[in-house]
Amino acid sequence: MVRHFLTLKDISVDELKTILELAADIKENPEKYEEKMRNKTLLMIFEKPSLRTRVSFETGMTRMGGHAIFYSIKDSPLGKKESISDTAKTASRFVDIIMARLYKHSDIEELAENSSVPVINALTDFTHPCQIVADLFTIKEKFGELKGLKLAYVGDSNNNVTHSLLYGCAMAGININVAFPDYPEFRPDSTVVKEAKQIAEENGCVVKLFNSAEEAVKGANIIYTDSWMSYHIPKEEEEERAEKLAPFRVTSALMSRAAENAVFMHCLPASRKQEVASEVIDGAKSIVFDQAENRMHAQNALMLTLLNNTGE
Ligand code: CP
Ligand code: NVA
Repeated sequence: MVRHFLTLKDISVDELKTILELAADIKENPEKYEEKMRNKTLLMIFEKPSLRTRVSFETGMTRMGGHAIFYSIKDSPLGKKESISDTAKTASRFVDIIMARLYKHSDIEELAENSSVPVINALTDFTHPCQIVADLFTIKEKFGELKGLKLAYVGDSNNNVTHSLLYGCAMAGININVAFPDYPEFRPDSTVVKEAKQIAEENGCVVKLFNSAEEAVKGANIIYTDSWMSYHIPKEEEEERAEKLAPFRVTSALMSRAAENAVFMHCLPASRKQEVASEVIDGAKSIVFDQAENRMHAQNALMLTLLNNTGE
């Protein structure tokens, strides 16, 4: 059966653990994996901009002896001139694996339904699972263990990264606090919260929602934020959003309420004028560039897993 990775729910807790272990081995022993993707091609479909995702997937394929094709559909929108299902059926006659960064989550679901090769979600408006696999790998590198840690996410929480963090932390046994302004547009998706709470219960951790950044970060080991202006946010909404989100900016005063050993994480791209102060993102507790680098190792592990190509 073809395996897709559209949300973290597409893998089990055990598989997540194995992927994180494999990512560590790939990072430590890259030479072992130099031929793993020999003669394999990844198609990368982009409807939105990207630096990290594009470069990490493409470089990752090169490092494992494979090839990646960048296909921008900015000028030829998916599902307009050619249907999503025709695109999927055609592409999967050529390539071994597809990743796509799209606006609508339902579009990637349709792409996957019609693809005979694995499809990876490289971000939709709804979720960003590749980011969170890399983040969990990064947290494990820093703290050794995941279970029992506390992560506080503050800011825009009706957000793809927040949704994937909710699933990922719950699966990994990390307690997660999510803090956002008390307006409906910043609230995480209620189904995601409900499901994450169930998954968390099974893994011995808790999911809590807050309307105060100060309360949420108390004693946290990881402070995480994301852009207030995700790629899909219209320009005309920016001013009002920035005003409402202002109390959720991560400053050194906010960081000082976290645990002594706390780290700062951000998936990037970041605005030093909005969600995070430069003293934090450029400070000693920031691990944002390790996060960025680890995208590649984690995705390599994920691609090998989906292709069932993890053996010797
Ligand atoms: N974090 C992340 O996905 O970055 P890009 O938008 O640059 O790919
Ligand atoms: N929430 C952000 C993540 C960018 C990697 C966005 O969708 O733009």
